[in-house]
Amino acid sequence: MPAHNDVAAFQELLRRIASGSHTVAAAGRSPRILALCGAGLSAASGLATFRGSTAALWHTHDPMELATPEAFAADPGLVWRFYAYRRHTALAVKPNAGHYALAALSRSLPTNSFLCLTQNVDGLSPRADHPPESLRTLHGSLFDLRCVGSEREGPAHCDYSVEDDFTEPLVPALATAAEGVDETASKDSDGKPPTLPHIPLEELPQCPKCKSLLRPGVVWFGEALDQEMIKGVDQWVAAGGIDLMLVIGTSAEVYPAAGYIEEARDAGAIVATINLDAESREGLRALASGDFAFGGSAADLLPVLLEPLIGKLEEPKVEA
Ligand code: OAD
Ligand code: ZN
Repeated sequence: MPAHNDVAAFQELLRRIASGSHTVAAAGRSPRILALCGAGLSAASGLATFRGSTAALWHTHDPMELATPEAFAADPGLVWRFYAYRRHTALAVKPNAGHYALAALSRSLPTNSFLCLTQNVDGLSPRADHPPESLRTLHGSLFDLRCVGSEREGPAHCDYSVEDDFTEPLVPALATAAEGVDETASKDSDGKPPTLPHIPLEELPQCPKCKSLLRPGVVWFGEALDQEMIKGVDQWVAAGGIDLMLVIGTSAEVYPAAGYIEEARDAGAIVATINLDAESREGLRALASGDFAFGGSAADLLPVLLEPLIGKLEEPKVEA
């Protein structure tokens, strides 16, 4: 049994998976590789992760407390400021070699042989030209907007939504946040975080169809994932054995996303974890026999690990 972090052994496995000679069960069928990505994939681009990091997303508020329907109902201006800030920071950085390596992996395999599930809402995988047919943005996108009326039943229902809206600022009231200023970072004269001025509802992004509020097209805590998307992912998972499960830069604490790791294992997959703390004592304890764990940055590791299929990764010629 090779060591859990044996790069050559992993690369050999990848070659055998691609050629269908990896197991008797895989013989004669196309390879099947699933990936689950999290905030760690974008860390090398300069975006803060949610957990296990000292770089807070937004100084004085727990992002987990802002990413809820309840927070939005209570103070949509505050939540919109948080998202305007995140939109700006995501736009201000560039995809890294990890995003490009996964995009190249997708192109190197037959259609349907690779499915990349990302929990990231930062738009960096699409900007790295990851083929959309193999990418599922489980938690939505910072750059999608939809009417809050989409959650209403009956005559008040409104289905307005828009994708890839990169406007900055979305409205003048969000201009400061949209310049990447963390308005919560400064302190009052008494050392306390400032109370931000209230933004009236009519100054927040509005639905052009029904004049209700627009909200970010992301999945908040307590909300269901897009059912159509999940149906498609579940169908892919159920379509046959899975050879390899790549778990990249995620703490795998948030469900249902994290549940795909065990589903892949049940479908026969070897699990390879690529994460800064993959080789911590806790990380190694979670390994099953034959699994791989590579402790390091996804941006450094993915181009090397995937090289047998993607070749030497070239720096993108045109900036995304
Ligand atoms: P987390 O912040 O929970 O985990 C990020 C993981 O990335 C940690 O395990 C780090 O060790 C690892 N990491 C950090 N830098 C890395 C690097 N350069 N290379 C590789 N790994 C690195 O982020 P997620 O798992 O994405 O959900 O969090 C899942 C969900 O919780 C998010 O999608 C979001 C969040 O609240 C919603 O908003 C619904
Ligand atoms: Zn509307």
